[in-house]
Amino acid sequence: KATLTIGDTSAEFPLLPSTSGAGSIDFSTLTRQTGYTGLDYGYVNTASTKSTITFIDGDKGILRYRGYPIEQIAKNCSYLETAWLLIYGELPTATELADFDERIRRHTLLHEDLKHFFTALPHTAHPMSVLSSAVAALSTYYEGQTDPANPEHVELNMVRMLAKLPVIAAYAHKKSVGQAFLYPDNSLSFVDNFLKLNFGVNSEPYEIDPVMSRALELLLILHEDHEQNASTSTVRLVGSTGANQFASISAGIQALSGPLHGGANEAVLTMLGQIRDSGQSVQRFVERVKNKEEGVKLMGFGHRVYKNYDPRAKLVKEAADEVLASLGVSDPLLDLAKELEEIALADDYFKERRLYPNVDFYTGVIYKAMGFPTRMFTVLFAIGRLPGWLAQWRELNLDPQTKIGRPQQLYVGSTERAYPA
Ligand code: MLT
Repeated sequence: KATLTIGDTSAEFPLLPSTSGAGSIDFSTLTRQTGYTGLDYGYVNTASTKSTITFIDGDKGILRYRGYPIEQIAKNCSYLETAWLLIYGELPTATELADFDERIRRHTLLHEDLKHFFTALPHTAHPMSVLSSAVAALSTYYEGQTDPANPEHVELNMVRMLAKLPVIAAYAHKKSVGQAFLYPDNSLSFVDNFLKLNFGVNSEPYEIDPVMSRALELLLILHEDHEQNASTSTVRLVGSTGANQFASISAGIQALSGPLHGGANEAVLTMLGQIRDSGQSVQRFVERVKNKEEGVKLMGFGHRVYKNYDPRAKLVKEAADEVLASLGVSDPLLDLAKELEEIALADDYFKERRLYPNVDFYTGVIYKAMGFPTRMFTVLFAIGRLPGWLAQWRELNLDPQTKIGRPQQLYVGSTERAYPA
């Protein structure tokens, strides 16, 4: 318990067990008993929502989807199987999965008019901006079919979004490199189709590399959900207004584009490149991080929730080795990343602060080896995260107790001022 004195009120308040630090103050009790609003930057404790989708124990480094450990999901499931699990709460039967897969294949085509939308945007546009704009634009093609209260609309739009987001993402990529768009090849699996849309060139045959395909599938699975992070809570907040799935997911993509969220994997690669180009040793870089030199930050390390190794980062690190070995290439940036991890994890500064590599630390190296330009990395995160956003939107939408979200404000400005005469 903690004794707090606010204004005239002094009382003991229970401490909540917390995944983000031992014993945080129970702000909701505080608010109820005193009428005071707790100022809580970033809603660390005050804003909470109930959910049955993803469980994280940040102290132990545990992540589970619908109760199943991420390690087992990553080993045994496909992207679509995991999507079904997140959305409906159970692993699909073989028939359910085949039907789901088939429905998604039938919806991959984009309306031809939507392609003009890509032409209208500058080729220098960041693919994340193209992605979120195109997803928002999608709803204009389905007027009268986007009612959140209509279960058929909700189901259909989930399928539409799963089918079309990879196509939009690949077109954003193709546009940025000045290549022609390909039509989806529905004889291929979800991931292989996506690889072909990105790396296939017109009529030339495209051969799928199975190691690359499985590695991409793994990365997408690992990103499918991560409870109430910035983009997911954005999707929920927008969804709580009654906005449709396209509007809500488009807002989530915008939130993910920030360098502190999905943009972090891009930032890790930039940091590794800078270390390499500077010619300084990794040890020296680590010292500069510890001295908090301006502009020197260790990207891809530490996480609001994980005070232990991010379980996703472990799996990504293994995959990085496999992909590079199968392609027969070595990447000095991967070696740098490993050296950086080793030095940091042996250093008391990082140990005391419980800073470990997070999911962004090794993903960029793999995406780069696959041939994706750096600006596509966050887009790949968005494709991974889509099932989580859809599941969270649906969960909120089905809950009869859902109310429109409205974060509390602690007003700290002037109360009343005389308007200048
Ligand atoms: C995520 O997967 O969304 C990121 O780790 C960010 C987060 O969970 O806060």
